Amino acid sequence: MRDATLPIDDRGLAYGDGLFETVLVRDGQPLLWDYHMARLELGIDRLALPRPDFDAFHALPAQCGPGLRVLKLMLTRGSGGRGYRPPEAPDLRWRWKDSPFEPSPGRWFEGVAVRCCELRLGIQPRLAGIKHLARLENVLARQEWQDDAIAEGLLCDSQGHLVEATAMNLVWRRAGRLETPLLDRCGVDGTLLSALDEIVDLDRVRVGLDTLLAADAAWLINSVQGVWPIRRLDDSAGNALKQWSLESNDTFRHAAHRQLGYPLNLGD
Ligand SMILES: Cc1ncc(COP(=O)(O)O)c(C=O)c1O
Repeated sequence: MRDATLPIDDRGLAYGDGLFETVLVRDGQPLLWDYHMARLELGIDRLALPRPDFDAFHALPAQCGPGLRVLKLMLTRGSGGRGYRPPEAPDLRWRWKDSPFEPSPGRWFEGVAVRCCELRLGIQPRLAGIKHLARLENVLARQEWQDDAIAEGLLCDSQGHLVEATAMNLVWRRAGRLETPLLDRCGVDGTLLSALDEIVDLDRVRVGLDTLLAADAAWLINSVQGVWPIRRLDDSAGNALKQWSLESNDTFRHAAHRQLGYPLNLGD
């Protein structure tokens, strides 16, 4: 159902008992659609939700408005059950909405300043990778800074391992190899990251901040914004930890932007 209100006893609203996807759509054509549906399916299995009518989902992008849009699809276990105990036969509830989207070319081509967040992500392998609705860690982390000059905040887990940013995945290059944090204990396994995993050599590693500080380039990525090269990294008090210079031939960004139909170079 298109953007309609939810009842107060909806389990997604009450407990975050559900999933969502945010998909970039250009003139009715979704980008990375198969990856979004695969992540949704993984989430459905993990939460033991009933299988939805995927055909109804496949029909949504064509119903979006013209130009560049973001399609948000939200799925909950519906109402009922006893407190946390889910109903035996849940009646899945889903909503969707599409909104116009304007990307930030300045962030693609000039890079961004990023900070480290104080918040630590809890380790919970059963929720790792999926895009569930219970996102309070991300909300608390995003609440840590108000300065619009800081584009994102980096998140580590409770043991100090790098995970991702509040709404983006993190990739860096060190000694000629592309690396990204393992997402098997927390974090969201991005669809753009999964797509890039198939076309570039990407090592998934469990490392701390020191490894990122030894990198010669770093990027934030997601399926809606594309790729933002990181130009400066601050600690949570605003002290500069590291500066990177922009690369004139950023082959990693090019590979990612080809996936999304975004320009490779300024002026394209
Ligand atoms: C916490 C988090 N990590 C990673 C991502 C990147 O996912 P995707 O590439 O599917 O947009 C998102 C997307 O919004 C996110 O919210």
